[in-house]
Amino acid sequence: MAEALNPSLTRRDAARLLGAAAVAAAVAPVRRTARRVDVDALLRQLTLEEKVSLLHGATDPASKGQAGYVPGVPRLGIPELRLADGPAGVRVTASATALPAPVALASTFAPDLARRFGAVIGREGRALGMDVLLSPMTNIVRVPQAGRNFETLGEDPLLAAALVAGEIRGIQGEGLIATVKHYAANNFENARQTIDVKVDERTLREIYLPAFEAAVQAGAGAVMAAYNHVNGVYAAEHPHLLTGILRDEWHFGGWVMSDWYATHSGAPALTAGMDMEMPFGVNYGGLAAAVSSGQLAESVVDTAVRRVLVQLDRFGLLGGGRPRPSPDPAGGARTAKEIALAGAVLLRNERDLLPLRRADLADLVVIGPTAASPLVGGGGSARVIPASAQSPLAALRRQAGPGSRIRWATGVDLEGVPVPDSALVLQRTQQGAQQGGAPQAAAQVDHTGADALPAGSSWTWTGTLTAPETGDYDLRIQGAGGVPSFNGSISLTLDGVRIGSVGALIGGNSSLIATSGGLTNAGATVRLEAGVAKPVTVAATGVAGTPLQVRLAWVTPRRRQEALREAAALAKGARAALVFAFNEGTEGADRPALALPNGQDPVIGAVAAANARTAVVLNTGDPVLMPWVGGVCSILQMWYPGQEGADATATLLLGGAVPGGKLPVTFPRRAEDVPTAQPERYPGVGGVADYSEGVLVGYRHYDAHGIEPLFPFGHGLSYTRFQYGGLSVRAAGGGLSVSFTVANTGRRAGIEVPQVYLGPPPGPPVPMPPRALAGFARVRLSPGERRLVTVTVPPRALHYWSDGRWTLARGRRTVHVGSSSRDLRLRQEVTVR
Ligand code: BGC
Repeated sequence: MAEALNPSLTRRDAARLLGAAAVAAAVAPVRRTARRVDVDALLRQLTLEEKVSLLHGATDPASKGQAGYVPGVPRLGIPELRLADGPAGVRVTASATALPAPVALASTFAPDLARRFGAVIGREGRALGMDVLLSPMTNIVRVPQAGRNFETLGEDPLLAAALVAGEIRGIQGEGLIATVKHYAANNFENARQTIDVKVDERTLREIYLPAFEAAVQAGAGAVMAAYNHVNGVYAAEHPHLLTGILRDEWHFGGWVMSDWYATHSGAPALTAGMDMEMPFGVNYGGLAAAVSSGQLAESVVDTAVRRVLVQLDRFGLLGGGRPRPSPDPAGGARTAKEIALAGAVLLRNERDLLPLRRADLADLVVIGPTAASPLVGGGGSARVIPASAQSPLAALRRQAGPGSRIRWATGVDLEGVPVPDSALVLQRTQQGAQQGGAPQAAAQVDHTGADALPAGSSWTWTGTLTAPETGDYDLRIQGAGGVPSFNGSISLTLDGVRIGSVGALIGGNSSLIATSGGLTNAGATVRLEAGVAKPVTVAATGVAGTPLQVRLAWVTPRRRQEALREAAALAKGARAALVFAFNEGTEGADRPALALPNGQDPVIGAVAAANARTAVVLNTGDPVLMPWVGGVCSILQMWYPGQEGADATATLLLGGAVPGGKLPVTFPRRAEDVPTAQPERYPGVGGVADYSEGVLVGYRHYDAHGIEPLFPFGHGLSYTRFQYGGLSVRAAGGGLSVSFTVANTGRRAGIEVPQVYLGPPPGPPVPMPPRALAGFARVRLSPGERRLVTVTVPPRALHYWSDGRWTLARGRRTVHVGSSSRDLRLRQEVTVR
């Protein structure tokens, strides 16, 4: 039945729609303690040099290991600022709550959980001495293999906007200033510092900017400008983005800082609206001179400083500051577990293999390195070091209790064995040593545990490595106790190429998965010819106070096959098999392929062939291909589940909780199906990435081109079933109010996330996807329970961007309600006039 709707806009609706309401919303509730300071009076008392010092980072004289520092002006009560990453928890030298990766948060479709996620970071950040958080990150997932997909909030702008707003309220409600990043169109890592993103205005407005706009409306105190160019101009000196949109349209009242080393000029960047250069004043250090020589008006400097001071005042940081809370690790852990449970996505569950039954636990086989060494979070600046994290295997054994028998095999050997003497000719030298400074013949490089080298010592091993048979070898450098360094301080060089370094922040091939002995594991797979000697160097510099551990190891082709056979043999005859599979998302590099790395596919295939009751637990940050999908009963996507991930995983597998997540990203069936499969789109040609897919990002692309995904956006099963009915749609506040019932028809309690999608009018004025997410809800239902759900579709969802404004897409449009973007259960036509 068609219902006539007339969302003719009131002036207030129109204002909200067009962003004017941001003025009122810009000051979100912040717990204030201090008095308001007269910022303009303060500004008048600052010298030009003091003003400039507030506009760029510097070295922290008392660093806590955080990413950034801005000195204060103590004589005027302006505090120094400490700025810490990041999206999954507070990244400082001290341990902190490692929350699940933001992609897991996105899977909850729950803004309230986002608020609580933010509150954990907000409180902990303040407790750990931080003032500004370099998070949330809300760049849309455009390229399914982009390195930082795990850090962000999925492929849909409406979902990301709702979550980022909730998270910012949580962070800032605890008094920590949030920085929404990376503004804008920073969607992959390949050539991230230079790539020029070619994107049309409509696509920016409809896909890439809404989450930033929502962050501004939620009151974000700061925005981080991205590394990349947007349409030929660096994002960090982009007048249209930084002033036209952010200030003039959205009325952003906070300050903009650059991403680290993303500032490329002084006066031009400042004039464009980029207030603070981070992490140092490479360009902005010269602003005072530019003012003195008349190249830059001091009023431009004042504007930027005022923006910073206004936020410090708003957060009660001026004039003596505010008390810091105590840390609450137990509270953080509780929230981390709750979100890991809530964001888990049950992708497949044939024969209801999950949850496992008692009988399964009597003879369960668990396969995979990440079952034994937990993959807590992704890599790069979002990596948080928790005080501890147990392994899923330990959690399973503990929760399964007495009477259970759970055996483990690695299946995929990431650790290998020390490269034997027979393959090495080596000399080792201890740097700066009184004795032993001269080269000495050495056998293996295997200094771990009781054989560790002295704390603070420094060594090099040089010589040759010769493989006994031709094949692909995983060469590994493993270590601990290295001196902290950006590039890593325990490294392996083969044939003149550095192929692994332990502990490097970005790149360095350091795995997120530790060895069984707790060492950091780095390296690469290289082809070696039998009998051909290759020059090899291992170098290690230790930190004072911790023994230096170094091991040069390899996984030979033979060892790889043995690990696979061992896993399949163990799985054969067991009641059920559980394979843990992973990928390693990290800042600084995109994944080379969509497939699972490290030869995991053949192992899963072999285990599934050996045992018909096989389930896979995925610890990936984004979509992976699954050539074995039809051979396994169940797939549980746990993402990078944070420090409580093991406990959450075991609880879900054993049925102590129900998975409540839905995919915030589409999983493609084949690499060639993805929206960015053409090189002009990704990684770009001639330094330009053409976003020519326009608004057809994520599921919009699959729907528009009739491509069957492996698992669609919004997909996620439960241990029960849901039935939908009774749809009614009415106009409300310039948008729609969509009501329907959801009933739990199974025998277990469950969580459902009903989703509302909106279709285009016939003969749309601009190309539109067949369906776009327009609203969602999250409901927990007991067995047999039926609930009336009402979802509000905001006015913006009925509009498209054209000729510099939001325009209502009039005509007959279809409202769909469903359990995923491809499992649509109800529909109703409405006429938008
Ligand atoms: C990242 C930012 C991060 C900053 C500070 C940069 O490399 O892109 O997201 O906040 O480093 O660690």
